Amino acid sequence: MSLNDFVVDALVRNPAYQHARLWTVENHEKYSTLAQPELGPESDHRFNHEIFLLMRALNEQGVGQSGLCADAEGQGALKAVIGDVAERLAALSSGRRVHYVELGPEPIKSACLLKRMVETSSSIRYTAIDINQTSEAAMSDAVGPIVREDGSFNYIAADYRTVTHEDLRHDQELTLITLLGFQEGNELPVSTGRLIRSLAGNTTYILSEMQVYDEGLESTILKFYANPCMLQFSQMVALQQGFIPSGEHEAMLVPLRIQDEPIHVAVTLQPVQRLQQRGYLLTNICLKYTPEQFHRIRARHCNCSVVDEFASGDGSVRYQIAKYLQ
Ligand SMILES: C[S@@+](CC[C@H](N)C(=O)[O-])C[C@H]1O[C@@H](n2cnc3c(N)ncnc32)[C@H](O)[C@@H]1O
Repeated sequence: MSLNDFVVDALVRNPAYQHARLWTVENHEKYSTLAQPELGPESDHRFNHEIFLLMRALNEQGVGQSGLCADAEGQGALKAVIGDVAERLAALSSGRRVHYVELGPEPIKSACLLKRMVETSSSIRYTAIDINQTSEAAMSDAVGPIVREDGSFNYIAADYRTVTHEDLRHDQELTLITLLGFQEGNELPVSTGRLIRSLAGNTTYILSEMQVYDEGLESTILKFYANPCMLQFSQMVALQQGFIPSGEHEAMLVPLRIQDEPIHVAVTLQPVQRLQQRGYLLTNICLKYTPEQFHRIRARHCNCSVVDEFASGDGSVRYQIAKYLQ
């Protein structure tokens, strides 16, 4: 069963959505600009670029807004936590030749991390892997000047599930694979495990950013999905998929049971119309592990051991650094 199937199965048991028409969209259809012959030569990837820009705007807010995700005393804002992660990565990279591999690249947080890492590492090669090729120019502009040396910036337009560790040439002293932007939540734990095991090689670390579920964090999670960028994201996905959006999406937390494990998932339901039919398009599905699950899943599915974790002051966002065990 795909993650979409698990969610639809849970929603149809919910009286509010039992009789509603529900449509789903795979990640690939939402983000990919790779050969889509059915769209014809006229397709201009306008929606894909808009989607990339919305993600970038969210990250700008994330590192720019003082106090975002901080505790009651104003400590532990996202900006400060990303700074702490950058310090930890700089210590890890110290004196080493590093390969930074970014899955689903974004320019803001990665520029913060890389700027600090180049100060301590002996060299940095950067590789972005994205199915949305419209990210290439922005990534080259943001990261190119930081990694400078010829050939240090690389961009692979591909589905990262098809890339292997041979393609990444693990000839550096340390490889860091990043999954930022709550991206891990878009995949089932087994799929993330498969992904990491096929990409990792010698001395590989994984950095993942997750919005986590814990008692008392429900409203914080739902508030994130009420951000105007996320509302616009849903409308963009609806238009891209040929629907007419009507109003704003509804965000909810749905309890699932996946391989005997209770896991919460945040879902955005965009009210839409197509021809004479009305219903909801599930524009985003994102698993929200508890902090304990996030830790445990690395060992259970990814053959990794967690070496460090950083949490925002309000506890809602965690950055986890794990080492792949060969
Ligand atoms: C939730 S967004 C996160 C974006 C970014 N990492 C951030 O921190 O904001 C997911 C990203 O992963 C990319 N993506 C999704 N599935 C992918 C796949 N199978 N292969 C390559 N890239 C993918 C999308 O293009 C998008 O940039």
